[in-house]
Amino acid sequence: MSKVFTLDEVAQHNSREDCWLIIFGKVYDATKFLEEHPGGDEIILKSTGKDATAEFDDVGHSHEAWHILGSLYVGDVDKSNIKTEYAPTKLQLDPNRNKQDKTKAFIIKFFQFLVPFIILNVAFAFYSKS
Ligand code: HEM
Repeated sequence: MSKVFTLDEVAQHNSREDCWLIIFGKVYDATKFLEEHPGGDEIILKSTGKDATAEFDDVGHSHEAWHILGSLYVGDVDKSNIKTEYAPTKLQLDPNRNKQDKTKAFIIKFFQFLVPFIILNVAFAFYSKS
């Protein structure tokens, strides 16, 4: 069973040496990740000890960021005293998100090649008839 923390308990871990975040009702220990964060440590420190869901979500973090987040998980928040419940969007939960992006990119590239190819062929057909 995962550990359940109250908001007050989480709020005590609010420093550079001990930095916890609440994101979508889960508690993450970001202390070791602070230095590595591509968005900088200060931005995470601003959101520590409180619910950082909106801040985290607004950035539109990648699948990779969600993966890192998973490794920092320490427990859940006692939801009885949380007023607003956030829910991850369907896209964030979709394990095939990256795969879908790649397929989309491939289809776009394919058509980018195909359309000029067809135009060239039509032009060539006209040219060789005349
Ligand atoms: C422990 C929690 C967090 C993790 C694991 C994390 C991870 C990451 C990762 C991997 C990136 C690189 C881009 C990407 O892959 O999406 C990133 C970028 C960024 N993050 Fe976070 N992040 C966390 C928390 C936050 C919070 C609370 C904020 C507050 C607003 C934030 C703001 C940003 C910003 C602004 C960038 C963009 C940096 C740039 O491209 O210039 N992150 N984060």
